[in-house]
Order: sequence, then C-alpha cells, then structure tokens
Amino acid sequence: MANLDFIYNRKSIRQFKDTPIPKEDILELLKAATHAPSPKHQQNWNFVVLQNKEMINKLADIVKESHERIGKLAKNEKDFKRHMSVINYYTCFRNAPVLVIVYSSEYKMIEEKILKDNNAPQEILDVLKSPQSAAQGIGAAVENFLLAATAMGYGTCYMTGPTHAKREIEDFIGFEKPEYELMSMIALGVAEENTPAQPPRKPLEDVVTFID
Ligand SMILES: Cc1cc2nc3c(=O)[nH]c(=O)nc-3n(C[C@H](O)[C@H](O)[C@H](O)COP(=O)(O)O)c2cc1C
Repeated sequence: MANLDFIYNRKSIRQFKDTPIPKEDILELLKAATHAPSPKHQQNWNFVVLQNKEMINKLADIVKESHERIGKLAKNEKDFKRHMSVINYYTCFRNAPVLVIVYSSEYKMIEEKILKDNNAPQEILDVLKSPQSAAQGIGAAVENFLLAATAMGYGTCYMTGPTHAKREIEDFIGFEKPEYELMSMIALGVAEENTPAQPPRKPLEDVVTFID
C-alpha cells in the first residue's frame, strides 16, 4: 500500500509559530501547486505571496471590519450572532508568517462561444458553467500546495471566508492582473504546538456510491 501519511496528516492550522519560512520552500510549494491538473491545461492560476507580518495583519483587520459591517446588516440577533461566531474563522491568518493569495482567470470554453453565437438561453449557459472549472483548477492547485506543505513539515489553512472583503484586499495589496480575480488564500507557517485535531470525516458509505 502506498504511504498516504502526507494526506492523512494534513489538517487546517490556524495558529502559527513566528518561525520564518525560507523563500526556496515557498517556491517549492508553489511549484507543487502548479503541478496540479487544470481544465484544458489552461493553468488559470496566479499566486501573490505576502511575508510582511504588518501587511498580513492589516489584511486581517480589513477582513474583520468587513465582517463587522456585514454583521450590522443582520435583521435579527440570531443571524448577527451566527455571523459573528465565524469572525475568527475568517481572520485566522493573522500572525501567519506567509499568506498566499490565490487568483484565477476565467476558464475559456469554445462550447460557450458556440452556444452564445446561437443565442442559447441563459439557463443552458448556466448549466455549462455550473461545474465552475476555473474554481476547480484553483482548488486542485491549493490542495497540492497544502499536501506538499504537510510533507515538508508546515501547517496551512485553505481559506475563502475572507473573500467577502476581496475588493478591499485587492486595493490594499495593489496587485492587478487583467481578467484575474481573487479566489482564496492560504495561510502557511510552522504550526503551534497542540493545535486541534483534524475533525472526523463522514463515513465512506455516506458519500460513495458504486454503480456496478
Ligand atoms: C474552499 C475552502 C474554504 C475554506 N475556508 C476557510 C476559512 O475561511 N477559514 C478557515 O479557518 N478554514 C477554512 N477552510 C478549512 C476548513 O474549515 C477545513 O478544511 C475543514 O474544517 C476540515 O478540517 P481539516 O482541514 O483540518 O481537515 C476552508 C476549506 C476549504 C476547502
């Protein structure tokens, strides 16, 4: 049996030591990320790496403020409390030594052009796009990064929660690449001691169907 420890040992890390991460290790992880499959090999990803703790923590402030602003719009106390209960979940990259911000461009499909040229109804176009192939490619790349990081002894957290502040984040970091949009973030560092265990998984029989 192959040794899959690097898969089973991965867990989301939300508390990091101050230990700096060598640039060559970050590059190795990004190389692993780019070895992921992508739809029609379009490699529609782009990674922005932050190592400046002040910048990373300022981003956490930006996400916290955006979160609080949304919270104020809640129509009742129950929704407000539920929303505010995840504020730490969305800002747990605070104090991470490295934050990788992941961008994606649109997955281009010739079938979409053909259907549009034929005035296909939006419903048909929605079905075509519903697999969100660009996002799936990003997910594959991020997972490669997380697994490589585990194999190299680092902790990570894959995050999309902060993206409700994506416009403010984009303005703050000042990165622009035409047609690319911010999709997710990866917090990276050496894990603090005694971080929570990986939560249990649904049993396979609940999520797998064999059709013979
Ligand atoms: C697409 C995606 C988005 C996620 N967003 C967040 C997030 O915003 N904040 C966070 O702390 N964890 C986030 N996570 C991590 C999940 O909470 C975590 O993977 C899940 O609870 C299972 O725990 P494990 O990673 O330790 O196995 C995200 C994971 C994925 C795949």
